[in-house]
Amino acid sequence: MRVLLAGATGYIGQAVLRELMAQGHEVVALVRPGRQLAVDAQDPVTRIEVSLTDDADWDQQVPPVDAVISCLASRSGAPRDARQVEFEANRKLLEHAERLSACHFVLLSAICVQIPRLAFQREKLKFEALLAESSVPATIIRATAFFRSLVGQVERVRAGKPFLLFSSGNLTACKPISDRDLATFMVSKLALPPMNTAVLPIGGPGPALTPQDQGRLLCETLGQPFRTTSLPPEMFDWIRWLISPLALVSQRMRDRMEFLRIAKFYATESMLCWDAVTERYDAEATPEFGGDTLQAFYAGLASGERAMPERGEHSLF
Ligand SMILES: NC(=O)c1ccc[n+]([C@@H]2O[C@H](COP(=O)([O-])OP(=O)(O)OC[C@H]3O[C@@H](n4cnc5c(N)ncnc54)[C@H](OP(=O)(O)O)[C@@H]3O)[C@@H](O)[C@H]2O)c1
Repeated sequence: MRVLLAGATGYIGQAVLRELMAQGHEVVALVRPGRQLAVDAQDPVTRIEVSLTDDADWDQQVPPVDAVISCLASRSGAPRDARQVEFEANRKLLEHAERLSACHFVLLSAICVQIPRLAFQREKLKFEALLAESSVPATIIRATAFFRSLVGQVERVRAGKPFLLFSSGNLTACKPISDRDLATFMVSKLALPPMNTAVLPIGGPGPALTPQDQGRLLCETLGQPFRTTSLPPEMFDWIRWLISPLALVSQRMRDRMEFLRIAKFYATESMLCWDAVTERYDAEATPEFGGDTLQAFYAGLASGERAMPERGEHSLF
């Protein structure tokens, strides 16, 4: 199959690119001007530089494709960027897929959109609604936490500092999934377009891990005693309140306010399926896929076998 891949330079997009090639697909990868792909000259990949957000004729140089995978994501989560990337850029991709009568559109989304409180979640849901109405069959993959999101404290624990927790460290839980397993899951869906739009929540192998569990695992793996420092998640509200006067006059401060909302969300909400009847997160109901465990990932980082994944520019810790 010839597949148009957007977001091929991102954390999951790179893994999807590798998996597509491993499965024998031909890839047309859209990248922003100047961005490179980790591929060899003989790989079946056509790299096309476009600015999806600014260029009205972006699709002029794109050859016909059978299916589209979008791993696009706003790198900042700021409201304007989220609208441009999560909604507008994906909408352009979908219109292109519709013009071509593509057989399938696979979207990387996030399980956190179940309880939409943040700008980027609302933009994702707006686009998911477009997919649901589209003539192109679509699969929406709502993933739980990536391994990359759970490595921010490796260096401080290695240095003998306590693991930072919000509250007791048991407020939230997730079933972490590796980039490789998520990519395998996404590409395995490609040849199976649903009759109607399918929404698939997905996590890695269980059990669900709380931040307490993650901290214990990390300390054990690095041979450090499990010591913790507890932080109140309300600290994000306090800082927001403090900077709110500046946000009246500064776009940068408004973006900072949104970042603080994002941080509070992840400090207090689980990345698991939400049960609307019991109004609780349900670990049992959260599907699992793959074999890569967070424990093995931490061990790989500790031994140096594995490189630290690139962190987002706004990572908290
Ligand atoms: N972090 C988690 O634990 C987690 C869990 C579940 C779901 N998710 C979801 O997964 C997604 C993040 O995936 P990721 O970590 O792979 O993202 P990422 O590494 O930040 O990659 C984002 C991709 O989107 C591209 N992009 C960003 N802005 C763009 C623009 N204006 N125009 C064109 N391309 C643009 C980036 O291109 P450049 O390389 O040029 O910037 C990159 O290829 C988000 O939707 C998030 O909600 C995350």
